Amino acid sequence: MSLIRGAIKLGNGNSGRIIAVIGAGKIGEAMARNIVSSVLVSKVIVTKRDTKTLKFSSKKIQITSNNVFAARKADVIFLAVKAGDAKSILGEISEYTSGKLVISVMAALSIKRIEEALPNSFVIRAMPNIAAMIGEAVTAYSVGHGIDKEQLRLSQSLFGCFGSFVEVPESAMDAVTAISGSGPAYIAVLIDAMISGALKVGLPRDVAFKLVTKTLTGTANLLEKHGIHPAELRDIVTTPAGTTIAGIYELEKGSFRTSIMNAIEAATQASEKVASKFEND
Ligand SMILES: NC(=O)c1ccc[n+]([C@@H]2O[C@H](COP(=O)([O-])OP(=O)(O)OC[C@H]3O[C@@H](n4cnc5c(N)ncnc54)[C@H](OP(=O)(O)O)[C@@H]3O)[C@@H](O)[C@H]2O)c1
Repeated sequence: MSLIRGAIKLGNGNSGRIIAVIGAGKIGEAMARNIVSSVLVSKVIVTKRDTKTLKFSSKKIQITSNNVFAARKADVIFLAVKAGDAKSILGEISEYTSGKLVISVMAALSIKRIEEALPNSFVIRAMPNIAAMIGEAVTAYSVGHGIDKEQLRLSQSLFGCFGSFVEVPESAMDAVTAISGSGPAYIAVLIDAMISGALKVGLPRDVAFKLVTKTLTGTANLLEKHGIHPAELRDIVTTPAGTTIAGIYELEKGSFRTSIMNAIEAATQASEKVASKFEND
């Protein structure tokens, strides 16, 4: 495959890049809503088969069901459809992606598969999470062949529009999918369970929701900002023969830690299985 090393073309003179988000579903819509506010971006074209459900207040966002139009116009193309829908879409747009930066957030599809389907494009594979809806995602990404510094910087600044980001080798993507991609669902289960516990001991639902969600974000922020190991924080809160150790004892008896480790391992294996299905498809 001969790669055309290309600077990213500017969309309209110097007014910024045109970004296409192909597949404005849950994650695509969340990314588009944040990317549009970047000074680097003059326009975001989002696509969906059924466009009636989409509404944006920004005049910089154009909605269409025409993927070819979006890919043709765009300088950078985000792919955010389900992996099962990808094959036909990649075929549809492949004529219009040469020399362009293509950022796939699709689970399971490898960089190699996308590079083969979109010859001469420059591919980055990324896994954000649903916290992109509030600009708080963490995005792990891996770079494909020929990505230069400018393309990397541009990708990072686009990821920065909807949260923080970290580069990982592509071999880590199944684990990333299991941890930060699926993670919000595990945390939601934990929050729901803690709220149920709060209800069981008599707290009103609205108070329980506030206490649980703020405890979660406060703990995560404290660990991150002070660089404290989670085990150290646990020890700070746990006094001998106190309330916390009584709670921790029940968590350990219920195999809480093992369950979480097993969940992450199972999700990683599930991701590997789906990925190998698409690799051999
Ligand atoms: N949700 C997450 O938290 C998350 C996080 C990271 C990565 N991802 C990955 O992102 C991808 C999308 O996930 P999702 O949860 O956002 O799914 P989703 O809500 O189902 O969104 C997929 C979108 O693709 C659109 N689509 C399907 N075929 C199309 C076509 N031919 N042309 C244009 N648009 C088309 C669908 O539009 P219609 O509704 O009109 O059919 C739908 O809006 C998946 O590969 C997933 O693994 C998701």
